[in-house]
Amino acid sequence: MSTNQAIKVENLNKSFGRGDTFVDVIHDASFTINKGELVALIAPSGAGKTTLLMMLGCVNEPNSGTIYLGDEKVYENRWLTKETRKIRREKIGFIFQAHYLIPFLNIMDNLTLLPQTNGVDTKESQAKARELLHYFDIADKESVMPSQLSGGQNQRVAIARALMNNPEIILADEPTAALDMSRSTAVVKMLKKIAVEQDVAIVMVTHDDRMLEYCDRIMKIEDKKVVFEK
Ligand SMILES: Nc1ncnc2c1ncn2[C@@H]1O[C@H](COP(=O)(O)OP(=O)(O)OP(=O)(O)O)[C@@H](O)[C@H]1O
Ligand SMILES: [Mg+2]
Repeated sequence: MSTNQAIKVENLNKSFGRGDTFVDVIHDASFTINKGELVALIAPSGAGKTTLLMMLGCVNEPNSGTIYLGDEKVYENRWLTKETRKIRREKIGFIFQAHYLIPFLNIMDNLTLLPQTNGVDTKESQAKARELLHYFDIADKESVMPSQLSGGQNQRVAIARALMNNPEIILADEPTAALDMSRSTAVVKMLKKIAVEQDVAIVMVTHDDRMLEYCDRIMKIEDKKVVFEK
C-alpha cells in the first residue's frame, strides 16, 4: 500500500545511561510526517532534538516504540533489519550545521564520494551531481574546492549532497546556524521547494524563530513530549 506518509512514529522512547547518569530524553512520542512537508523541530538546548533526528535516521537506537519510514516498518522495540546502514543509504539524506564537506576534495568529488563508495556507477553519480549543481545554481563550481565557495554556497553543496541518493526523508540539524539572515532564509525556502518538488519530508532543527514562517508545521519537544504547534 502506498501512502503519503514519510515518517510515522508510535510510542517512541529514548533515555541514556542508568543510575546516576540516567537521562530521560523522549517520552512516548507519536506523530506522522508526510511527504512534501517541511517540519521545523524546535526545543531548548539539550531537549533531545538531535537525539530524535538520529533515531529517525536509524543512527541512534530508541529504547522502545515503532518507527515507519515510508511504508516500511524499520523499528519495533528493535531494528527490524541488521542493515540500518542500507536504510540510511536508500531513504535518508542528512544535512548538518557545519556542512562537513571534505576540504581536500573538489565539489564534484564531495558529491560523488558516498554514492561511489556505495557502488553507484561513476558516470551515473556524476550526472546526478551535475543535475543538482545546476538545480542549486552552482553548476560552474564542480571543479573548485570547498574553501573557494562562500558559506551559503557550501551549504547548498551540502544540501545537494543530501539529495544524491533521492531520499524520501531529509534530516537537517541546524542547517542555517552558520549563515546570516538572508542566506538562512534562502536555504529554508530552498528546502521547502525541495520538499514540494521532490516529494520528500524534511525535518529541520532550528533555533531561529524567523525561519518558522516558511515551515509547514512546528514540532516541539516539551518536557520530553513531542508536540505540534502549527
Ligand atoms: N550518547 C549520549 N550519551 C548520554 N547522553 C546523551 C547522549 N547523547 C545525548 N545525550 C543527552 O541527551 C539529551 C539530549 O541531547 P541532544 O543532543 O539530543 O539535545 P539537542 O536538543 O540536540 O541540543 P542542542 O540544541 O544543544 O543541539 C542531553 O541531556 C544530552 O546530554
Ligand atoms: Mg543538537
